[in-house]
Parts: sequence; structure tokens; C-alpha cells
Amino acid sequence: MRETKLRDIHSRPLRDLRISVTDRCNFRCIYCMPNDEFRTQPCFMPREELLTFEEIVRLAKLFVALGVEKIRLTGGEPLLRKDLPLLISMLSQIGVPDISLTTNGLLLKKFAPALKQAGVGRVNVSLDALDNEIFMKMNGVGIQAETIIEGMEAARANGIEVKVNMVVKKGVNESQILPMARFFKEKGIMLRYIEFMDAGSKNNWKLDEVVASKEIHDMIHEETPLEPLNPHYLGEVAERYQYVGTNKEIGFISSVSAAFCSSCTRARLSADGHFYTCLFAEKGASLKELIRSEASDEEILIYLQQAWEKRDDRYSEERSSYYEKGKERKRIEMSYIGG
Ligand code: GTP
Ligand code: 5AD
Ligand code: SF4
Ligand code: SF4
Repeated sequence: MRETKLRDIHSRPLRDLRISVTDRCNFRCIYCMPNDEFRTQPCFMPREELLTFEEIVRLAKLFVALGVEKIRLTGGEPLLRKDLPLLISMLSQIGVPDISLTTNGLLLKKFAPALKQAGVGRVNVSLDALDNEIFMKMNGVGIQAETIIEGMEAARANGIEVKVNMVVKKGVNESQILPMARFFKEKGIMLRYIEFMDAGSKNNWKLDEVVASKEIHDMIHEETPLEPLNPHYLGEVAERYQYVGTNKEIGFISSVSAAFCSSCTRARLSADGHFYTCLFAEKGASLKELIRSEASDEEILIYLQQAWEKRDDRYSEERSSYYEKGKERKRIEMSYIGG
């Protein structure tokens, strides 16, 4: 492992970079960009605002020099960015040990061979239900679960590791918790349940619509016993379990009921070149302006280093105090910052 001394205020190193490559999406998930809100307020960024591939790679190299070992490409939907496999092969040449993608899976069947060839080792695919009536309601565009499952199969057939993300929203898809667990256990694909988060300004989040991970764990455990596993690395987002007597895993991402800020090693770069040190940050620094100026790599490196050293974010741990005090907070959309 690369050893850099860079630490933020809470002694957290910089290890992961999540790069959003577009804020556009071919889904309208109810917990991210619900149809009604987006019809009245379409707000995608103009294409000319996007960082070029050369700019993304230049910044990625500097982040790697500061300790980043994992790069995850996100969106919106990252497969909508033109020539994405080309960007991935450019990033692969930097020598980052782990390049992955978070996708809604709709275009995965088409892109799986090119992604593998470009250097993608892992994809996390969102799927919130097997029941099509529920899934179509959640994705907002009438896509059926089978299409996404075909995408996962194509990725696996091409040697890409697949994990599934399921956001659970009370009153909408709780009925899918057990069917999803059974289905992905059988397939040998790791399913992770995600607590509905208060990200962005459009999903009308309420605490009582969150289904806590413990509740989900207990439902599954009652049917098929689970045992906890140790984290793979510092700052792993999901708590992992395995079905007793097997090597099949399942995970829980509990940003609301059990925040994991104390080990958060993630930086985020938006498609228009803003640098964020938290998913819930109120503002980000424009790196695009910096890289389009005369600044040298050394100067940008120092800038990033200082920004990380000043990092004090721990929103999920502080969430309840925001709500208790009724404090207003500007929220970046998940589709802009990439989850
Ligand atoms: P790997 O563990 O490397 O496979 O990736 P990951 O789980 O970090 O990435 P993924 O994009 O699949 O994220 C899964 C869910 O966790 C998404 O809903 C993210 O928004 C959420 N998530 C990821 N990182 C953070 C974080 O730093 N803070 C919070 N609150 N949520 C996060
Ligand atoms: N709460 C929890 N997870 C969310 N995602 C998007 N919006 C939310 C939210 N409000 C998830 C997606 C995907 C990842 C990028 O973020 O389902 O798995
Ligand atoms: Fe859904 Fe992801 Fe698209 Fe948001 S960006 S609408 S979570 S697929
Ligand atoms: Fe990291 Fe911010 Fe998420 Fe906490 S809320 S885990 S600091 S990104």
C-alpha cells in the first residue's frame, strides 16, 4: 500500500476518488431525481462544462500521487458519457490498482466487453426490486428488472465482479427485501441494502421512510442465519455478513442508522470539475478553473493537499443535530456528485 502522510483534520487518509463523468441519467429514481421534480426543473449541465478526458486524467494522476488507490466512475449514469471505455483505458494507464463503476445497469450488456478490455474490474449495479411493478415505479422510466439482470450477467461473463445496490424506501419496496436476498444468494452475487438518504433536494426525504439496516438484517437472519465478517479495508462502506456455512455474502450500507464518517477516505470530483470532500458538502472547489489556468501540476498538488488537510466533514454523524436544530443545508444532487 502506498504510504503518504496526508491526513485530514480527523486523521483520515485520502484513498478513494469518485469521479462523476456526467450528471445525465436514463432513469428517474424516486430517491434521486423523481420525474415530477425533473419535469418542472430540468437542470443538466451544458456539455461544454464537462471536464475533458485529458483533464480528468491529469487530475486523477495528482490524486494518485496523494494516496488514491481506488477510482470509481459514477454519474448520473456513467455509461451515458460518450466514449467512456476510452477514458477508462486512459485511467488504467496511470496504474491505479482498482477501477470500478457504479451504474444503473441499463447499458451494461452493450458495454461489458469494452469495459473489461479497458480495465474495469468491478461494477456496482443498482436494482431496487425484482417485482416489475415496484421496480418500474422506482426507476421512473418503465425499465424491467430482467434487463438489469441481463446486464449483470453480461458483466460477469466478461470477468467483471458484480455487486448489487438496493435502496430501501419504506412503503415502497420493503416487500422485496427477502425475494432480493434469496435471488442474489442463489446467483452468488453480493447484494447490499442501502438506507434511504437525505441527499439532494428533490427526494422529499423523511426519517420515517428509512428502513434501518438492523431491521433488514433481522428479517434475513430469521430466515437464513448470517454471521458478520471483518471489513476488507479501513473505511469500507458496507458492513458485510455471510450466510452461515457458505461463502455467500450480503451487505448493509447504514449511512443513517450507523454513520461511517470516522473512517471516510473518499474524495469526489463532479463532471464539471468541482472537488468535494463529502457527499453532503455544501460547496466544492472548482478545479476546472485551476487546471485551465497556468497552474503547474505541483501547484495543483499543493492545492489538493491543503484542501484535504482542512477537511472537517462528517455530515452523516452530525445529521441528527442538523434536524434537531432545524438548520437549513444546501444539498448537492446525488446525480451531480455520483453517490
Ligand atoms: P465498493 O465498496 O468499493 O464496492 O464501493 P462503494 O460501496 O463505496 O460504492 P457505491 O457507489 O456502490 O456506493 C454504494 C452506496 O453507498 C451509494 O448509495 C452511495 O451513495 C453510498 N456511499 C458511498 N460512499 C459514501 C459516503 O462516503 N457517504 C455516504 N453517506 N454514503 C456513501
Ligand atoms: N439514498 C440512498 N442511496 C441513494 N442512491 C441514490 N440516491 C440515494 C438516496 N437518496 C444510490 C443509488 C446507487 C448509488 C450511486 O447511490 O441507488 O446505488
Ligand atoms: Fe437513479 Fe443513479 Fe440515475 Fe439517480 S443517477 S436517477 S440513482 S440511476
Ligand atoms: Fe464521508 Fe461525508 Fe459520507 Fe460522512 S457523510 S461518510 S464524511 S462522504
